[in-house]
Amino acid sequence: MRFGYFDDERREYVITSPQTPLPWINYLGVEDFFTLVSNTAGGYSFYRDARLRRLTRYRYNNCPLDADGFHFYIKEGENVWNPGWQPVQAELDSYRCRHGLGYTVIEGAKNGLRASQEMFNPLGEHCLLIRLKVTNETALAKRFSIFPFIEFCLWDAVDDSTNFQRNYSTGEVEVTENAIYHKTEYRERRDHYAVFWADRKPDGFDTSREAFIGVYGSPAHPAAVFGTGCTGSTAHGWQPVAAQQFDLELAPGESTSLLFGLGYIENGHSAKWAAPGIINKEKAERMIAAWTDDSAFDAGLQALHVYWNSLLMKFRVSSGEEKLDRMVNIWNQYQCMVTFNMSRSASYFESGTGRGMGFRDSCQDLLGFVHMIPERARERILDIAATQFPDGSAYHQYQPLTKKGNLDIGSGFNDDPLWLIAAVDAYLRETGDWEILEEPVDFDNDPALAQPLVEHLRRSFSYTETHLGPHGLPLIGRADWNDCLNLNCFSEHPGESFQTSGPSEGPVAESVFIAGMFVKYGRAWAEILRHIEKANEARAAEQSVEAVEAAVLNAGWDGEWFRRAYDAFGHVVGGRECEEGQIFIEPQGMCVMAGIGKSTGEAEKALASVRERLDTKYGIVLLQPPYTRYHTELGEISSYPPGYKENAAIFCHNNPWIVCAETELGHGDRAFEVYTRTAPAFIEDISEIHRTEPYVYSQMIAGKDAPGFGEGKNSWLTGTAAWTFVSISQAILGIKPTLDGLQIDPCIPSSLQHFSITRRYRGAVYVIDVENPDAVQHGVREIFLDGSLFPGTVLPVQKEGKEVRVRVIMG
Ligand code: BGC
Repeated sequence: MRFGYFDDERREYVITSPQTPLPWINYLGVEDFFTLVSNTAGGYSFYRDARLRRLTRYRYNNCPLDADGFHFYIKEGENVWNPGWQPVQAELDSYRCRHGLGYTVIEGAKNGLRASQEMFNPLGEHCLLIRLKVTNETALAKRFSIFPFIEFCLWDAVDDSTNFQRNYSTGEVEVTENAIYHKTEYRERRDHYAVFWADRKPDGFDTSREAFIGVYGSPAHPAAVFGTGCTGSTAHGWQPVAAQQFDLELAPGESTSLLFGLGYIENGHSAKWAAPGIINKEKAERMIAAWTDDSAFDAGLQALHVYWNSLLMKFRVSSGEEKLDRMVNIWNQYQCMVTFNMSRSASYFESGTGRGMGFRDSCQDLLGFVHMIPERARERILDIAATQFPDGSAYHQYQPLTKKGNLDIGSGFNDDPLWLIAAVDAYLRETGDWEILEEPVDFDNDPALAQPLVEHLRRSFSYTETHLGPHGLPLIGRADWNDCLNLNCFSEHPGESFQTSGPSEGPVAESVFIAGMFVKYGRAWAEILRHIEKANEARAAEQSVEAVEAAVLNAGWDGEWFRRAYDAFGHVVGGRECEEGQIFIEPQGMCVMAGIGKSTGEAEKALASVRERLDTKYGIVLLQPPYTRYHTELGEISSYPPGYKENAAIFCHNNPWIVCAETELGHGDRAFEVYTRTAPAFIEDISEIHRTEPYVYSQMIAGKDAPGFGEGKNSWLTGTAAWTFVSISQAILGIKPTLDGLQIDPCIPSSLQHFSITRRYRGAVYVIDVENPDAVQHGVREIFLDGSLFPGTVLPVQKEGKEVRVRVIMG
């Protein structure tokens, strides 16, 4: 069942019912000021840090769901309704929500009045803009009132929802003719405030929630709206809000639009006050003045379209397969950008108050956006590398506001260092910017310890090389990619961290997954070394890689698949002798991607085992059989009921590893089959089962052992976005950036006869046409570059601005 449809022309998902299985959201904002908005106008805004600079309140697990947001109440006679249905939930005569790239339009109609609520965060500004357009579609004049309403958060979202003994007494506002200023804590140490404004003087306002909503009222039934209107209240402590009232009259057929904004302003410490107790509003007034007419609003929206065009034109496919094209050209790349902006901080599942930026997460996210914004990828790499410890290990997380490593969680996740090599390798392949390797970068954020970036990669590699266990496989530490496989922790007390309790690190527990990474990214490191003329060091690195590869084929091979790990007692994890958790997806994907067992048959067998034991109609589950009881020696993984999260859900992140692995062996049909199982556009028809947005990936889909098999959870912020983009653009469609140029090496379903791609690469445009006359899955017979036969598959780097035509014949 569907709840909407894709409008590819406008690059929108159009939702046709407000009662989607879960709120379906969009992200507004691309740099510093962000808004999350759902299809019923729920959501919240923040400046840079969703915990420390939260502008509006949001209750994540509230009941009813998603009642906080950017709502407009329309009152005509006794009828009260919202264009987005929530929170009053009055039945609408028509409803549409269009989620587009960086903007959302919600339109509702009732009793001949149509209201459309357009929202976006303009580029280069710290604000959200909303235009409410109202049309009288009847033959009679209409009188009605409009009430916008938002609830301020007292800045620190954790304090706001916990420290009531203080914060019920701190809330402060100022009201001017058109605007409401939120200035809680401004009197003391803050020099920033929020402002909600309208383009005209309202007929009434409220700034105290008690007055507008009522002490025992609710957003579904605000006292002021259902009663006699706004009361002109001023919030002192309790809950400051911004509510206004506009009494309007529209002639038959007449329309009007009202413009609103929610802005964030920082004043320097010395410029805080205009007069004692009165905040300096100069910057806010400038912001308001810039956005008070329709043409400014339209121009801001247009600039946003231009921005997204410029990003998405870097990679475009036309395959004749509509769903594939819309995923590749629009939604997958869009999700990669959102994930880049947010990391794992703020969604409807991530509260923005917990984790900072993950070291491994951010490195992997980069794989999905480096082609769109290489300059920001560069900056991200340097930020991440600066948190690395001098011995090559890494803080597992760092704070986006300070860019400093997070001491609470510390280090010891032994896959982290190798992801830095993955990120830099992807960056070099995309840009050829070898100078980045010479950039001085701090260790542990200490400038006194700065070394060129290349030294960071060297230490990443050597950290793994020098931390091997009894079988010659890398030690796992607190966990590897699978944060929930905690082989050194033995947590027995509720509430303690699964990763950091107990010894956390040990000399025995080893990871076959990290071994696969070491082979894959160790080879990439050796290739980088050769490019910078360090052939001896490259050879030595390759020898270490070969030793670990041999260890994988020996101690890491179970007969039909790759084992997962050895626990702290030296017992196999992910082997046939295990009672539960006999086979895991991660080492099959990573080891085959690394080419391990490719020439000796293990790779083929491992992928056949995945198909046989882990496949389901909704994707590949993480492991089988699931853990049915808690194993202290394995940790968090066995804390989840069977079929959820790391305990045998379809963890979407590592499905594309299998896609990449299948293409490594030339299996285009199977690779595409795996790709389509989880790709949102391909499963739109089961939206009532999948429940999360049909235009983006979720972190997990409940596995076959769960009662809710097929149900998605934790949508939007997941490494799935980046890895899927790699799997479809590079592994399947075969457009692979290399250190020396752009390689064309598709591995496609045999039924795909033809596709074309426009790829912007290192300043040039490659217009690539691929023909598949013999219906093969893999293999390039001939390539013509601007009409001439070209030897090999790696197209040389072209002059800036040049456009080349490439014809590829598979066979
Ligand atoms: C984390 C990743 C981790 C994955 C698997 C996600 O929630 O952000 O860093 O690799 O879970 O445990």
